[in-house]
Amino acid sequence: QLQAYDPARAAEPLPPVSPEEWERRAREVLADGPFGYVAGGAGAEDTMRANRAAFARRSLVPRMLRDVSRRDLGVELLGHRLPAPVVLAPIGVLGILHAEGELAPARAAAAEGVPFVLSTVSSVPMEQVAAAMDGVRAGAPRWFQLYPARSRDVMASLVARAERAGYTAVVVTLDTTMLGWRETDLRNRYLPFLQGQGLANYLSDPAFRALLPVPPEQDPRAAVQAFLGTYVHPGFSWDDLAFVRASTRLPLLLKGILHPDDARRALDAGVDGVIVSNHGGRQVDGAIGALDALPAVVEAVGTRAPVLMDSGIRRGADVLKALALGARAVGFGRPYAYALAAAGEAGVRHALRCLLADLDLALGLCGQASVADVDASLLA
Ligand code: FNR
Repeated sequence: QLQAYDPARAAEPLPPVSPEEWERRAREVLADGPFGYVAGGAGAEDTMRANRAAFARRSLVPRMLRDVSRRDLGVELLGHRLPAPVVLAPIGVLGILHAEGELAPARAAAAEGVPFVLSTVSSVPMEQVAAAMDGVRAGAPRWFQLYPARSRDVMASLVARAERAGYTAVVVTLDTTMLGWRETDLRNRYLPFLQGQGLANYLSDPAFRALLPVPPEQDPRAAVQAFLGTYVHPGFSWDDLAFVRASTRLPLLLKGILHPDDARRALDAGVDGVIVSNHGGRQVDGAIGALDALPAVVEAVGTRAPVLMDSGIRRGADVLKALALGARAVGFGRPYAYALAAAGEAGVRHALRCLLADLDLALGLCGQASVADVDASLLA
């Protein structure tokens, strides 16, 4: 931060330091379709706004005269020590934003020791993403996000591949058993999957290939249709979840939990953590802001498992507010996608470092030496 203020370096263009600036840069370099796909939400985007409003409605009350000369952003999560209470949230089809797709943010996360959550619908197969991360730092933390599919064989196969490739947790996203009503994408007639984007894990999967009458290389359009009919599943139920639970010994997290009763039932079903999220307001317009849903879920879960949250995290203060309401860690989403579009791996790494630097300052300036000590007493 002090380097950035140095007038001697004023000639060097300062990379964006705010998520809004990254969004503007992304808008400049992306076509309407891909930009709208990232920026848009469901319906009137009320829930997207509710996510931010929930942060704005809460205030930190900084404490003074406490020694904060040494600060610790580290947290324990699923038996691992993380450098900060932050993961890169799963975002699909990153190939529409940058030629390197998921490889760029995965490497950036690896360099910072922050877990990268790879989407089911990535543009690069999960094994290649894992290898790229290991190239930066052997065993760099990575989780695999699983969309509930119509085929149990495909789900089991994807999970087994993730285990073999060194992913250390499986995140099952529950809020996208169908795609939400996304007016921007409808207006742009833009759905990346229809152009064959985001199918890398499926096309490379033996269980999916076994469902096809001919190999995808021979009939790519038929493969896209088969993918669209398989990759999400509105019939997904607690029974199916039990199948996924039984298919792996990796920790299982459920993403998209908003109701405390679902959180309780999830724990009874043997999951290891829940992620409070409304998918960045992309699924149910009118749904509760994610931060507003957090306290009741935290209360329901108690000490049984960690609760994470995403949807609306933009700055350090947002992370602090989520932690104060009981989240163990948060997911950083759209801002890193914009940084990827505008500046690739270096952009994502810079955006992530800015978030962590901002968090470190906010923590110390609030009179807290450790994120592990942050609790509701930090809020008005
Ligand atoms: C997402 N998100 C998402 N989640 C998931 O589990 N699997 C996925 O493939 C995707 N894909 C995806 C694409 C795009 C373009 C966006 C913006 C989001 C949801 C993501 O993990 C996270 O919940 C939201 O991004 C959080 O909202 P904010 O903070 O980014 O607004």
